[in-house]
Amino acid sequence: MWTERPILWFDRLDSTNNRLKLLEAGGAEHGLVVAARQQTAGRGRMGRSFLSPEGNLYFSILLRTDHDPRELMHLTCWAATAACDAVQILTGIRPRIKWVNDLVYEGRKLGGILTELVLQGNRARAAIVGIGINCRNVPEGVADMATCLKDMTGRDIDPEELARALAHRLRLGDHTGMPLDAYRVDCLTLGKPVKCMDDGSTGIARDITPQGGLIIDLDDGTQRIVAAGEVSVRGLYGYL
Ligand code: BTN
Repeated sequence: MWTERPILWFDRLDSTNNRLKLLEAGGAEHGLVVAARQQTAGRGRMGRSFLSPEGNLYFSILLRTDHDPRELMHLTCWAATAACDAVQILTGIRPRIKWVNDLVYEGRKLGGILTELVLQGNRARAAIVGIGINCRNVPEGVADMATCLKDMTGRDIDPEELARALAHRLRLGDHTGMPLDAYRVDCLTLGKPVKCMDDGSTGIARDITPQGGLIIDLDDGTQRIVAAGEVSVRGLYGYL
């Protein structure tokens, strides 16, 4: 059964998302997972790099689709709740989610999700959902803002064991819909003062749309929905 397919492991890749894109172009099948022990050019959202030292998990799953890209905006939220499930299964501790894609524990970043689409005409032929989770190491230079499973639990968590739990959870899950209730519970952003990074507007994060957008009650009395941008949460990652 395809849910039991092995994970394709690499000691080192530039980015598991890049490798999976190549495999997708070669006809790789739905549900294929690529994982690496280290990345040399890990990528995050908004064009940022994702520091990827040895000892952590770098993981990408291929989802074949035939959707309008706008119908796939929930995938990052879907993967984030699945990642919380997998971490909880292994450690007994459930991280939270900073909208839209950061896994957070006690105010520090544990990992993140980067979803990329492969377009064919105006449809998405595939989605590549990349997940990075710090297992044994906090990347150099971000020690004050990041954490890892070892620091969270005091235990050594094997990235391969986490990869198996994550693959199992993702392959069995229904990625076609937004897990709105679960995401609302996990999302630490809701109810908090936030700042939109595009125009500096501030307000209170109120709710999540069925597409995964963040609904904000702005301080000027209006409401806006942030679909793809970046939002800072007051009190998190040094934003005062
Ligand atoms: C973020 O924090 O903005 C998202 C980080 C996503 C990192 C993962 S690691 C596996 C996959 N490969 C990448 O290059 N990025 C994602």
